[in-house]
Amino acid sequence: MPSFKNIVAAAAAIAAVNAVPTTPPTPLIPPQDVPVNQFTNDAANGAPFLNNLAQQAGKLWFGTAADIPGPEQQDLEYMTILNDTRIFGAITPANYMKWQYTEPQRNNFSYTGGDVVINIAEDHGKYVRCHNLCWDNQNPEWLTTLVANGVSNKTMISILQNHITNLIEHWGGRCYSWDVVNEALNGTGGWDAANPFYQVIGPAFFPIAFEAAEKAVKKTKADIKLYYNDYGIEAGGPRAAGAVNAIRSLKQAGIQVDGVGFESHFEVGGTPSTAALVQQMNAFIALDVDIVMTELDIRFVNASAANAGGYAQQATDYYSAVSACMQVDRCIAMTVWDFDDKYSYVFDVPSLNSSANMIVLVGSHLHSPARASLTCTLPTSPATPLTRLWPTRSTTSPAASLARVPSTLSLKWK
Ligand code: XIL
Repeated sequence: MPSFKNIVAAAAAIAAVNAVPTTPPTPLIPPQDVPVNQFTNDAANGAPFLNNLAQQAGKLWFGTAADIPGPEQQDLEYMTILNDTRIFGAITPANYMKWQYTEPQRNNFSYTGGDVVINIAEDHGKYVRCHNLCWDNQNPEWLTTLVANGVSNKTMISILQNHITNLIEHWGGRCYSWDVVNEALNGTGGWDAANPFYQVIGPAFFPIAFEAAEKAVKKTKADIKLYYNDYGIEAGGPRAAGAVNAIRSLKQAGIQVDGVGFESHFEVGGTPSTAALVQQMNAFIALDVDIVMTELDIRFVNASAANAGGYAQQATDYYSAVSACMQVDRCIAMTVWDFDDKYSYVFDVPSLNSSANMIVLVGSHLHSPARASLTCTLPTSPATPLTRLWPTRSTTSPAASLARVPSTLSLKWK
């Protein structure tokens, strides 16, 4: 229960935000305990909470990505929902554990951004999926310059090992898992030529990364799970086949790999069927790994489809996706890639061609079927996912007066 003191503090914070401050308001960094139904009406309407439902069904969590530190921390509604562990049982930092932030200069590590997320998670009893250690995107300039200047294989290996070792040892068991390698495949299931580690080290970068991670995990003596995370591997095709081969090669070499992240960035009307997802999960599980749906979102790629029929389709798609995880024991958890359109990355990436989005929790309730569908999917006996309407939020919510603070963090996608 939130204490009286916290409620008073929260009320003062709301008043302060509503007063349209001339200077930026103090970030609402948790612990910040506000009754969540002030925003969502969940309790008032007897509606179930996403993480409660997932955990009752035996999953580890229903979680979300969050791009903090950032303007979200001044959005009381956002932070209140993020903090509420009945709604989200895990957080994935959307950006601040990536190379450009964690090793901005060679061998000079910065943990500030990641610490913010981990602290919030720990204050509220949530898991953290730490993300990520080796990727072709969001790398620091010093690294890309070294590659452009022909860095040696030996140096690149030691740079990769050093990064992985430092991050894993720094956060230790505060991470439930690490995405050791992220999105390393090309469209035909081979290694992506844009990956700088592959460019210099060749295919060996993959086992080298996992080996370094395993060694660091052993040193921490914590039970940290190691994942390969990717998109387009969720339902057959060459990328899925490539990922299966990659996992098999690690297993055959006796190198630790505990799970595969199904990113699950899907499109309305183009989401794989439950059966296809289940089949692909089982193909990985046959290699003795867990599955997590790590970045679920289902976007509209055609604005004109964002109408009642489109939202019903979107709800069906969320239902299909989450049902797959519900049907497979070793699909242990699911995470959405943020829950408020204001903060979704899909609008920042032109190639995603996203014209109307996939809100899960807050924002315009035009999108509420997505959430209704999720809450109906999670119980073991789903009833009528598409007919259930989500109640509209109270008009007294401060959300309307909380304009998004202009981000100083600009576009992070390269
Ligand atoms: C995205 C972040 O959400 C954006 O803020 C950033 O600009 C680019 O990266 N797959 C991943 C995530 O594994 O790390 C990406 O996150 C989204 C796609």
